[in-house]
Amino acid sequence: MKIVHVASEMFPYVKTGGLADVVGSLARALARKNHEVTVFLPGYRSVLEHPEVEPLLRRTRRLRIEMGDMFMTGDVRVFSPAPNLTVHLICREEFFDRKAPYGNGERDYEDNHHRFIFFCKAVVEVMRLTNLDADVVHGHDWQTGLLPLLLRATEQRHRVNLAMHTVHTIHNLAFQGLFPMKSFYRTNLPTELMGIDGVEYYGQASMMKAGILFADRITTVSPQYAEEIQTSDYGCGLDGVVQLRADDLLGILNGIDTDTWNPATDALLPGNFSAADLGGRKLCRSELLKKAGFDPRFSGPVFGMVCRLTEQKGVQLLLANRAFFERENVRLIVLGSGDGLLEEGMQELADALPDKVYFRKVLDEKFSHLVEAGSDFFVMPSLFEPCGLNQMYSQAYGAVPIVTRVGGLIDTVTDIDDEPADGTGILIEPTAAGLAGGLERALDLRMDRAAYDAVQQRGMGRDFSWEKAAEVYDAFYEELGA
Ligand code: ADP
Ligand code: GLC
Repeated sequence: MKIVHVASEMFPYVKTGGLADVVGSLARALARKNHEVTVFLPGYRSVLEHPEVEPLLRRTRRLRIEMGDMFMTGDVRVFSPAPNLTVHLICREEFFDRKAPYGNGERDYEDNHHRFIFFCKAVVEVMRLTNLDADVVHGHDWQTGLLPLLLRATEQRHRVNLAMHTVHTIHNLAFQGLFPMKSFYRTNLPTELMGIDGVEYYGQASMMKAGILFADRITTVSPQYAEEIQTSDYGCGLDGVVQLRADDLLGILNGIDTDTWNPATDALLPGNFSAADLGGRKLCRSELLKKAGFDPRFSGPVFGMVCRLTEQKGVQLLLANRAFFERENVRLIVLGSGDGLLEEGMQELADALPDKVYFRKVLDEKFSHLVEAGSDFFVMPSLFEPCGLNQMYSQAYGAVPIVTRVGGLIDTVTDIDDEPADGTGILIEPTAAGLAGGLERALDLRMDRAAYDAVQQRGMGRDFSWEKAAEVYDAFYEELGA
């Protein structure tokens, strides 16, 4: 099949979170299955300058994109990182030659709607100019929400077929791509779409709503999240819209990229290991402790956490459990950046307990692998979690996850008390008290080495590979064609 993915991130070229990992590995997994895969990505500076991209890059054509009452130019550059896989970069310096994809630190760029309207329009234009004729056009998150509408509008206008089917994947409903309705004319879409049956959301325009309403099919990144977003607790105000599309909604669990995330071959680790031979893990553990400034021989429980520091990730629940870290002889190593207040809170905790808590406030791919490979427990107290990748990485790397009973965490971690013979981690309620209980249970588990080892082995034995997940996508795409 000819499959087109459209996204704003793709590992290893540009990444702010799990979306990049998923797009990078899904595209590669589908290409390995002999699909002809094209990915469209904004031509961010980080991508154009990426050492793997620069030598492969071909500039193909200039673009002239209608944006309301004016035209904007851009160009498209292309490279092919693997057989059956082509990446098209939509370039326009004014929009994409910036340090970060969506904003500078605390604030989003004010022209994000212009940037992603332009991006989606350019994608459709390239498809038209190259007669791409896709079987499926698959967009990810709010940045591509307008794509189904723009695609069908262009098909009508030029009397061409660009794609048989459109799919929109919701990776995180909390980010909706809202923009002022007065900018809607930039889309050149019919004004009827400005109403409540169209893109309108409390007076603004919502790119996410457009994707949910107008794609042929909707997917989420775990089955549990597909259920949750139909409720007011997790629907972020769009639960009614999601309910309208319930018949066309499917949850497909993400996988993990075992080329990048395999402890037996991971080149970013000081030692490699597997379930059968955990020798290298000891080395990773002492290296992690050393890097955090602790005694590498420390034998008590080591808790690790890697995430965007946002409310979603439950950082405030961790901070509320300060007493636990004051009281117990444990170590906590946190890697993450994001919200200023949460960063401050984490820094205060680390300053107050320098012998026990280490905080690293950067994006550091290598250190993130070491945290997974060296911690005894991985803490992920998310308030909501569409899928989550770190709890899968941690099981594969032998760090027992402590996760909340939400979203994809429920689909990927089995609680050791609920199912003693199959348990791979500790599930908790998404509250400070829930986390307190989870941390205590972790101490108990760690005291019983045989039990801990069994849980760790079961986690390492789980198959979270993309090969499995890609088969589900494969069947889903086949079924679309039927
Ligand atoms: P989300 O996409 O909501 O942030 P996921 O669990 O799906 O959550 O994916 C997060 C990804 O980002 C993981 O690959 C994780 O290792 C990575 N990550 C998050 N923060 C950092 C950081 N500070 N340094 C390196 N990697 C990070
Ligand atoms: C989003 C979600 C996360 C998910 C990721 C990849 O960023 O927050 O749960 O794993 O997308 O699908």
